[in-house]
Amino acid sequence: MVHVTDSAEIEEILKSSSFIQVASRVGHSQLIPGALSTLDGLEHSQRRRIESKLFRPDRIEYYRQAALLPSMAAAMDELRSLKDASGVVRTDLVPLTWRMAQAIPAVLAGIDGAGDAAGAATLTTYVKDIAAAVTIGWQVGDHEEILRRGLEARAALRRDFFDSSVARRRNLLAEVRAGRRAAGDVPRDLISLLLQNLRPDEDAGTILAETMMFLMASITTTAGAFPHFIVRLLDWMADHPEYRPELVNQDFIQRAVNESLRFFVASPARLREAREDCLLASTGRRVTAGAKFALWFVPANMEAATFGPDALEFNPLREDGRNRPWGLAFGAGPHSCIGRTVITGFPRRTADGGSAHVYGTMTTLALHLFEAGLEIDPDSPPRLTSSTFYDEYVSLPVTLTAL
Ligand code: HEM
Repeated sequence: MVHVTDSAEIEEILKSSSFIQVASRVGHSQLIPGALSTLDGLEHSQRRRIESKLFRPDRIEYYRQAALLPSMAAAMDELRSLKDASGVVRTDLVPLTWRMAQAIPAVLAGIDGAGDAAGAATLTTYVKDIAAAVTIGWQVGDHEEILRRGLEARAALRRDFFDSSVARRRNLLAEVRAGRRAAGDVPRDLISLLLQNLRPDEDAGTILAETMMFLMASITTTAGAFPHFIVRLLDWMADHPEYRPELVNQDFIQRAVNESLRFFVASPARLREAREDCLLASTGRRVTAGAKFALWFVPANMEAATFGPDALEFNPLREDGRNRPWGLAFGAGPHSCIGRTVITGFPRRTADGGSAHVYGTMTTLALHLFEAGLEIDPDSPPRLTSSTFYDEYVSLPVTLTAL
């Protein structure tokens, strides 16, 4: 395995057609065969073009309004009922984040029945087990058992959510074809899109694989990144108390989210294999066909040449690297994160010709929690996971003092 930490070389490999994906072959072939992240070349670009419709700016605003804000409001109502005698709520940010992180992906994918607390909890349990099995190479422990649990979770997700969601959309599409319904009655989500665009050689198994991949790629990353962001930002605030009023300023929070993502990796290392001999222009490295590469994003995201002399530190006020403040957090090239703007938001023209920002999921979650007086609970230490090579919290006790 060749280990690469130079950002220019990583980017060149990610963008080059001389390299293919080789992440956890066992997990991919058993759980998500044929999903977007496992494809390369023409097949990948054709599928990606179809699915990019899900990420148009109007759709992202829709997911935020129709899925994220109502879920957030329901969760805050439930938390309010947990106030102790002094008006403080004690809760764990990790399960709370998992619940919130699934709101947009479930609607975007077209999974019915996950809107309430019970449905969300069941869906996220399945997604966790599926994700562990798909990324088996990064898991600690008995791999056969992890795969078995993943396959069981896939069957349960199919039984409890997927089959009925597909059936409802198939019926709606049939009614549209028969002229009994308007096309606008069909939800504009991943399942509907694939039902309408499947090639003859693709089947329901492909839709299941794609749905699972989208759910895990979006939920596990957001749920993993958010607690780290909160810890980094509140640590920084302890040394910069004059900025505390900014905790309820969405522009500031979005900048802090972007900066924190520089330190976060969606996978410990990205793996690629050369499919032909080639020469890397960025470093002059000669590569032979079959060579395997581990691409380490965190050191690449710490380069002082891009992010300034204090690149190793979290600094939400950073001016260096503003054109891509998250560095390589969302990858680069054909497989780069299709859902990035769900997290980073995007600038938008306003009716009066000005510009405004549509904020991402992590910013919206943080804003609501900071408005509710979020602090890390000084009496209950956080815990990091030991069951995987991912850098993840399993528990982050917090208090809400202003709910
Ligand atoms: C903090 C949040 C997130 C991070 C850090 C992240 C990171 C990444 C990275 C690094 C890749 C590239 C993988 C590679 O090149 O091997 C990727 C791909 C992907 N991401 Fe994200 N992601 C996040 C959130 C999301 C969300 C919210 C969605 C969907 C709603 C999403 C959907 C996907 C999909 C479908 C792919 C595969 C794209 C392809 O293979 O063409 N991600 N993500």
